[in-house]
Amino acid sequence: MKITLSKLKKMKQAGQKIACLTAYDATMAHWCNEAKVEVILVGDSLGMVVQGQDTTLPVSLEEMTYHTRLVQRKNTHAWCIADLPFLSDFDVPSAIRSAAALMKEGLANMVKLEGGQRALPIVEALSNMGVPVCGHLGLLPQSVEKNGYRVTGRDEASANRLMADALALEKAGAEMLVLECVPSALAKKITDAVSMPVIGIGAGKETDGQVLVMTDILGVTIGTMPKFAKNFLEASSGSIQQAITLYVKEVKQGDFPSLEHCVD
Ligand code: KIV
Repeated sequence: MKITLSKLKKMKQAGQKIACLTAYDATMAHWCNEAKVEVILVGDSLGMVVQGQDTTLPVSLEEMTYHTRLVQRKNTHAWCIADLPFLSDFDVPSAIRSAAALMKEGLANMVKLEGGQRALPIVEALSNMGVPVCGHLGLLPQSVEKNGYRVTGRDEASANRLMADALALEKAGAEMLVLECVPSALAKKITDAVSMPVIGIGAGKETDGQVLVMTDILGVTIGTMPKFAKNFLEASSGSIQQAITLYVKEVKQGDFPSLEHCVD
């Protein structure tokens, strides 16, 4: 049976961890299904992973839609979130047009967008239109040219801002949240303060679930492996299926992430 948003919310309430992984094509989606990954993220990280770009910024809406469609062609199990690419959501009408492409042509179940305050009217409008929205706070890869890749929430002011943004996103209609590179204690506080499921990446083990990039768990990252990632291919007996299965098992049991994967 396919995972629904209401199932993910029930998992949060029951304290069951959610395993999320990025996938960009039908084969990856199939192996995620075999390992019972609950959420597939068609991330704009495909800019680096698939296209060999330096950042996510050049990824177009058409490319996101194409990859989402490939994933959804073979995804029979997971809830599928697709990223709204850089500047495809600069105002409400553009966000509605972009979400329409990802959901009507790509067949995504949910769209994800980066940012706090600036995203609120967009989240509200999409949610009112029946579009399920996932927020994304902390390190924002689409703002790399402005802010660089940096951990946020270490000082009191930025921690308070992150908490306020998370609460405001939920109030505006967001139904899931990705927290990227946030100190573990703050990630726990935010997770406890909202009723939507919170999926962490480099945000400690107390979030409702974890997400990693597929190539990182398979140890085929181009360049340096991020501190928060783990090579599950090396840690398993050596097949892609076993690596994804081990990732899901460690997330569910709370064994991943361990201290070495935190950015505190
Ligand atoms: O694009 C992506 O893969 C993401 C994850 C890193 C959360 O947004």
